[in-house]
Amino acid sequence: MSNKRSIRIFDTTLRDGEQSPGCSMNLQEKLEVAQALIDLKVDVIEAGFPIASPGDFEAVREIATSLGNRGVEICGLARSNDKDIDRAWEALKQSANPRIHVFLATSAIHREFKLKMTPEEIIKRAVAGVERAKSYCDNIEFSPEDAARTEIDFLCQVVEAVVKAGATTVNIPDTVGYATPSHMRDVISALMNRVPNIDQTVISVHCHNDLGMAVANSLAAVQAGAGQIECTVNGIGERAGNTSLEEVVMAMRTRHDVYDFDTNIESNRLVPASRLVSAVTGLHVQRNKAIVGRNAFAHEAGIHQDGMLKNRDTYEIMRPQDVGFAATDLVLGKHSGRAALADRAKQLGFQLTGEQLQSVFEKFKQLADKKKEIFDGDIVAIIQDEILGATESEWSLVTYQVELAYKSTPRISLTLARDDQEKTVEISDGSGPVDAAFLAVQQLTGVELDCNEFQIQSTTLGRDANGEVTIETDHEGQTWRGRAVSMDCVEATIKAILNATNRILASTRQPV
Ligand code: KIV
Ligand code: ZN
Repeated sequence: MSNKRSIRIFDTTLRDGEQSPGCSMNLQEKLEVAQALIDLKVDVIEAGFPIASPGDFEAVREIATSLGNRGVEICGLARSNDKDIDRAWEALKQSANPRIHVFLATSAIHREFKLKMTPEEIIKRAVAGVERAKSYCDNIEFSPEDAARTEIDFLCQVVEAVVKAGATTVNIPDTVGYATPSHMRDVISALMNRVPNIDQTVISVHCHNDLGMAVANSLAAVQAGAGQIECTVNGIGERAGNTSLEEVVMAMRTRHDVYDFDTNIESNRLVPASRLVSAVTGLHVQRNKAIVGRNAFAHEAGIHQDGMLKNRDTYEIMRPQDVGFAATDLVLGKHSGRAALADRAKQLGFQLTGEQLQSVFEKFKQLADKKKEIFDGDIVAIIQDEILGATESEWSLVTYQVELAYKSTPRISLTLARDDQEKTVEISDGSGPVDAAFLAVQQLTGVELDCNEFQIQSTTLGRDANGEVTIETDHEGQTWRGRAVSMDCVEATIKAILNATNRILASTRQPV
């Protein structure tokens, strides 16, 4: 990286990313993602919004306590008031490198309609928030929410005041994804040129993707002088999401001729991190997604394949290995041993504990009995199930039987267990096996779910492939996702419904 300007990567997958509908993660899942972010070598992990709920608080506290000494800064979000800031500090204080992130909206529309505050009151509240946070730790970030739509003169005044109060980073959010690259460049240039104490802080950008320009806007901001980019794995986040970490990092790394800067990111961890976040949130990565999509390096047209065989540079600007795709899809089978599986898991980017490896190996053997060849997609699915299925399973599947006939109502007998107690229901209802499974699970667990989306996709090629079921459901006005994998699609469906149900039961989350 040498003489290139180093851009800090502030990852907000666990905070803004988790705010996407249905993307809430439990503690175990957040810890797995935080570990993946450390492996990626991000500079800052925004672990959550501690005041938002006891679950958020606990997650930030746990990440700060158990991973806060690993060289990465752990950050917690707070509105600009004493209660939020005190709670954030309470969660962060065990970390070796804590950062408090205080925010307050500054745009005219937010001032008038949301906050009902004058510009003078905004500056006063922002400064008070930074000073309060500063009484706890040195590392303070301030965000003027909706900065991209804030009058530039007022934004300069706010930034000057919070830097004077001690903000070591000032983040410029395009909260509603309204900016364009030239707009973002102009905002950052104005701050660089007009705020007298701007050299005492790092300017950051936080772009939403409503117009599909978050990555381009972040790069434009960095060209104008920003030193930090806020982003998320797979670009998840509010509405259309945030700047995608993998895209913004690889744009800088691939186009050094244009961007004279780089990051500390270990790019070969991008695909494993993407897979993990996709499994944890249930949000599939589109096949043609840049960098981490399944087709990102697939060459279909004959003329392209011919060119690739002659010289890969004809059609390839990055190597798949550089972003973490395995060089070959190695096939394992029932004679493959634990060492081969462990080695493959490592190459796919998973670091399993001895206990996890044992359990994954057992599932691998069971699958190998049914299926001759085990591909990377199968192994990833087993590992993700192991890592994610190990979360608080309130209800688990014992057995089921379904009777189906053309144009007739399905019958289902379902047995579930909870706390070592089994319960069975038999019903003849529903428009098909999926509906019947929802009804039966609902009767046994008492948790009502409306199904908004049901998806099934194979994890590998072939008729004997595993099916991955993901569902998006509504429960009392909140969205919840569920996911499960099996060669038996009905089993995967029941387990995905149970996964969503268990998340609801385990959750203590209350909206702020
Ligand atoms: O989009 C936004 O404005 C935010 C702030 C809290 C930084 O997420
Ligand atoms: Zn945001």
